[in-house]
Amino acid sequence: MEKAVATAQAQPNIALIKYWGKRDVSRNLPAVGSLSLTLATLWTRMKVEFSTDFDRDCLQVDGEVAVDMLPRVSRCLDQVAGSNRPRASIESHCNFPIAAGLASSASAFAALVVAANKACGQASDIFDEETIAAVASRDTLALARLAGAASGSAARSLFGGIVELATGDDDIDVATLLAASTWPLRVVVAVTERGHKSVASGDAMILSEKSSPFYSSWIENQDHDLEVARSAVNDRDFEKLATVSEHNCLKMHSVMWTSRPPIVYWNQGTLACMEAIRDLQSAGQAVFFTMDAGPQVKAICQPDNEALVMQTLSEVDGVETIMSSGLGAAACILDDA
Ligand code: PMV
Repeated sequence: MEKAVATAQAQPNIALIKYWGKRDVSRNLPAVGSLSLTLATLWTRMKVEFSTDFDRDCLQVDGEVAVDMLPRVSRCLDQVAGSNRPRASIESHCNFPIAAGLASSASAFAALVVAANKACGQASDIFDEETIAAVASRDTLALARLAGAASGSAARSLFGGIVELATGDDDIDVATLLAASTWPLRVVVAVTERGHKSVASGDAMILSEKSSPFYSSWIENQDHDLEVARSAVNDRDFEKLATVSEHNCLKMHSVMWTSRPPIVYWNQGTLACMEAIRDLQSAGQAVFFTMDAGPQVKAICQPDNEALVMQTLSEVDGVETIMSSGLGAAACILDDA
């Protein structure tokens, strides 16, 4: 039996300046740049095994066969290993709820690309020469572009710390803006619902572009928000980062709400958490919120008020679980032993 196997781990990332909108749907290129925090303690681990013995791809997520997600995963493997590649067995494990607005597709596709690329380099006899040459020449940016083609936000999980993604000329550019250890921010996640999201973010973005009257001004103002956030990060100016991040998040959700039909990911717990965070701010606490394509609230704070933020959000009606994380590292290969 000819086989090639590798396992990789990637952490989800939480955008402060959001990606919402595609400039090229077929290549999945974003219409706007974005800025995110890669987390430390939440992860997806992905094992990819290519074998000439398999007659089709097979995906398991947390031990269950996942037929729905397989076509997207297979397409991503075609991009990494060529469409003539041997079929693969893919096993994914995640230590947090998936498809619920916690960026599980970001960590999943980042880990998938890293594992698949490594596996291709393990057994050159089962891949064609073109694939082997492509695999050998890929750096982190090339892997990020492949991950981004599957899920726009996944490109950012190839990098650790505070990450900026630029739309670029022909393809995205993405890199760490500030290393994780340089500014010890904390991210407290209040889970207000465990179910899968109602509309996939990719479909929702296309709907927003087609139908929200706010979409064009969202796109026009993004460079300004990115510039403000970048300078806040460079100056470690929490207040400035808080203001621009909340504004950018609320603008993205306004675009969603004004789409037709409207896209509303929030629930009552989401609003109650936002109110609790506003109260903390009024009491002088350095904390701000952000929400993505789901009802979970992420509160960004600092190590000295993390316990207070966790305690406050855990007491909010509708909050099921609280998780917390610092900023983490780039996607990496795990030892298969
Ligand atoms: O990468 P996708 O297609 O799952 O889209 C992510 C969209 C948001 O999470 C809402 C924003 C972002 O920048 O991560």
